[in-house]
Amino acid sequence: MSDKSVARSVSLVLPTYNEAANLERMIARLDALLKESGRPYEIIVVDDDSPDRTWELAEQLGRERFAQLRVVRRVGERGLATAVLRGWEVASGDILTVMDADGQHPHLTLLELLDAVEAGADIAVGSRHVSGGGVSDWSAVRRFLSRGAQFIGLVLAPSVVRRVSDPMSGFFALRRSVIEGRTLDPVGYKILLEVLGRGRYRTLEEIGYVFLEREGGDSKVSARLYWEYLLHLVRLSRQTGDLQRFLRFGLVGVSGVLVNLAALWFFKEVEALPLWLAGCLAVEMAIVSNFVLNDAWTFRSEAERAPGLQPWLGRLWRFNVICGVGAVINVACLLLLTNLLGLYYLVAQLVAVAVSTLWNYTLNATLNWQA
Ligand code: GDD
Ligand code: MN
Repeated sequence: MSDKSVARSVSLVLPTYNEAANLERMIARLDALLKESGRPYEIIVVDDDSPDRTWELAEQLGRERFAQLRVVRRVGERGLATAVLRGWEVASGDILTVMDADGQHPHLTLLELLDAVEAGADIAVGSRHVSGGGVSDWSAVRRFLSRGAQFIGLVLAPSVVRRVSDPMSGFFALRRSVIEGRTLDPVGYKILLEVLGRGRYRTLEEIGYVFLEREGGDSKVSARLYWEYLLHLVRLSRQTGDLQRFLRFGLVGVSGVLVNLAALWFFKEVEALPLWLAGCLAVEMAIVSNFVLNDAWTFRSEAERAPGLQPWLGRLWRFNVICGVGAVINVACLLLLTNLLGLYYLVAQLVAVAVSTLWNYTLNATLNWQA
């Protein structure tokens, strides 16, 4: 594949919005680093017409101090992800890379990412969740929100999000060929999701890094970004077929409720079994029926490429175990929400069903059908 002795040219994109407080320090540091690494390089600042005139400062730095610095000023457009794409559009390097302009991504890790791509990886992702990675001193709430967002991604677009340990990372490098000729259409912050969802790649490497605190200025994260993140996930999810699969799983679940009721009636009225036994049998009938439908419909394409998967009976058994635990989670949630939070039991049960459905879906999709 790649020849290590050939130094590939690098285009580093720095998206900025009101980063005047950090820019000069960042550019000086990165310019020295790339110069010393011996590769041909360019640094491209893509600024969205910042009110603090980051673009003006960047242009001045380019003129006066850094010959390899280029500046794109976008007027009338906002958004981190699209800004990065704009930078890559005008880039000339073989390796495309991106990094925050506020000092939160440790600059030495950039060299590791570039090395990984030169050594053969199609994409090298800076990750907070592999060895050597982490966050500085985040509160429990902040960690929880970050992981929560990742979990939602895992549910909505597993085929994209599962490929890396830190899909939220905005620090990565890739071969130009990964996105060449592909249409990328991200919304919001998470450009990596778009690259993973629509790019052309086989090998992917993750490099740990510690997410530092901002050196100056303020974060641009707002509530609106969470909404855009969801929107982006749903869009990717539809395109990869993840959404369709999730909806099928939900429909099968609804059918299971009907099977459960019918079986309960049958065992109680026709077979005259005691209610507890009829109830247990009804649950098991619904589980088996759900399994058969999911195996033949929801996860059909996964079930068809059987090598590596459990045989049919093995899958049925696993489905049973996962859904059994799901049932326990359901009841535990119900009790917790009614007793601790004082929710009305029917409302609590709605939430509990949602939680256990998510459990059943994610575990079965990943462990059972390996979708
Ligand atoms: N051009 C442009 N337009 N740049 C933007 C915009 C925008 O609308 N919004 C933010 N930026 C720039 C910022 O100036 C900064 O350089 C970088 O994008 C990251 O923005 P922050 O507001 O500092 O984001 P963060 O610290 O919460 O999150 C970052 O780190 C995460 C963890 O690696 C982002 O880069 C995430 O994508 C990343 O996952
Ligand atoms: Mn930041």
